[in-house]
Amino acid sequence: MAIDRELRVQKIKEGIVIDHLRAGTALKILEMLGITGKEGYIITVAMNVPSQKLGTKDIIKIEGRYLSPSEVSKIALIAPKVTLNVIKDYQVVRKERLILPEEIVGIIKCSNPTCITNHEPQVQSKFLVLSREPLKIKCKYCETIMNQEEVFRRLS
Ligand code: CTP
Ligand code: ZN
Repeated sequence: MAIDRELRVQKIKEGIVIDHLRAGTALKILEMLGITGKEGYIITVAMNVPSQKLGTKDIIKIEGRYLSPSEVSKIALIAPKVTLNVIKDYQVVRKERLILPEEIVGIIKCSNPTCITNHEPQVQSKFLVLSREPLKIKCKYCETIMNQEEVFRRLS
């Protein structure tokens, strides 16, 4: 029977499920969250699993760990269309479909070393999102354009 052949990843009791991640991005997300595995959280990572919506996807389940608003914003930056599920007592108590806003404030630093945002601590970085996929953002102060790769490198 098909049922004997299917491996279902266990449901979790408390924590978060980051679902519908673009295939191959799960490790980058963990790295960005500063999670190495040494913290002791029970973590399940599934990569390149079949998905009806995406073809293939990655999923991360972390027990007993929640996300700060700035962590959520960073995830939205590199993983558009991700679904963030908050689990309490085995139930999904919150489901948030992340979308990248048109403007990104204060989450990443401009790649231009002479940009005012890298010299004046009171000036927050501000980027305009030119394209979501592939990601392309433009600094509102110096107009430097950063692509997905550059943004990735500056996140962790
Ligand atoms: N999940 C879990 N532990 C729970 C409840 C849910 O690990 N106690 C996981 C599910 O395996 C799934 C995700 O959290 O990967 C979202 O659960 P649910 O909303 O029940 O699934 P769907 O309706 O398929 O979600 P979506 O519509 O977002 O695809
Ligand atoms: Zn700049």
